[in-house]
Amino acid sequence: MTLIRPLARIIPSVQTSDGGGVTLRRSLGKDQASRLDPFLMLDAFSSEDPEDYIAGFPPHPHRGFEAVTYMLDGHMRHEDSLGHSGELKGGGAQWMIAGRGIVHSEMPRQEAGRMRGFQLWINLPARDKMCPASYRDIQADEIPVIDLAGGGRAKVIAGAFVHDGRTVDGPARGGAVTRPLYVDVTLPAGASLTSPLPDGHAAFLYPYEGRLAVGPEDDTKILENQNAGILARIGDVAVAAFDGPVRFLLLAAHPLDEPVVQHGPFVMNTREEIEQAVADYRAGTLGLP
Ligand code: FE2
Repeated sequence: MTLIRPLARIIPSVQTSDGGGVTLRRSLGKDQASRLDPFLMLDAFSSEDPEDYIAGFPPHPHRGFEAVTYMLDGHMRHEDSLGHSGELKGGGAQWMIAGRGIVHSEMPRQEAGRMRGFQLWINLPARDKMCPASYRDIQADEIPVIDLAGGGRAKVIAGAFVHDGRTVDGPARGGAVTRPLYVDVTLPAGASLTSPLPDGHAAFLYPYEGRLAVGPEDDTKILENQNAGILARIGDVAVAAFDGPVRFLLLAAHPLDEPVVQHGPFVMNTREEIEQAVADYRAGTLGLP
């Protein structure tokens, strides 16, 4: 019999703002106790009011982790200190490995209409924190879409998603140690999804439309919209649309089990490394070899 992962813990999101003053909901990362190794933070932004997003994310630094932006609706432009620029549009993603450092901005390219998406931070292991930064744009048409039984749909942004005995690889490649899986799933009312995950990988769900029924038949729990649902460490993920259609993110990755010291946009293993990051940023040498 296949083991199904029960829902182990719920991290509700709170409204906050970041960047130049963008309104968003933060679940993972709202405080230190709300991380799920190696996931440091999940921000969801969704608004039709330009006041909530127009300030964007002006230039700011990062060191020591990966930052993934996935857009559902809207248009932002990315620019960074390595000379990259890219247009981030609905259905597309941007995968940035900050490594030893990068300074970037993400600014809206629209003055009206809906802006909706997510930013996820995934930690890097000590051995990779000072790797050169890299950046990749992923357009919507590069992301494979899998038709699920019952009329559902899964978009595989990163990692290996297994469904019906078939493995589909997303276009993004995350860290070699964490091997993150990032899937955006839509289920109509009455539909369900079961998928194996590597044992030991940390996994969570984030419904952003509708509600999810999570876990084995004899231990099903309801996960509300805009709550991060942390799964147990062993077995398959099994979910179903609860009383109507549902859309959610499925994320999984291998934990690092290393000390985490965070100071704003710098995430390292020790206080000394944080002091170094701040000093390098002040000196204008963040990211330089
Ligand atoms: Fe950023």
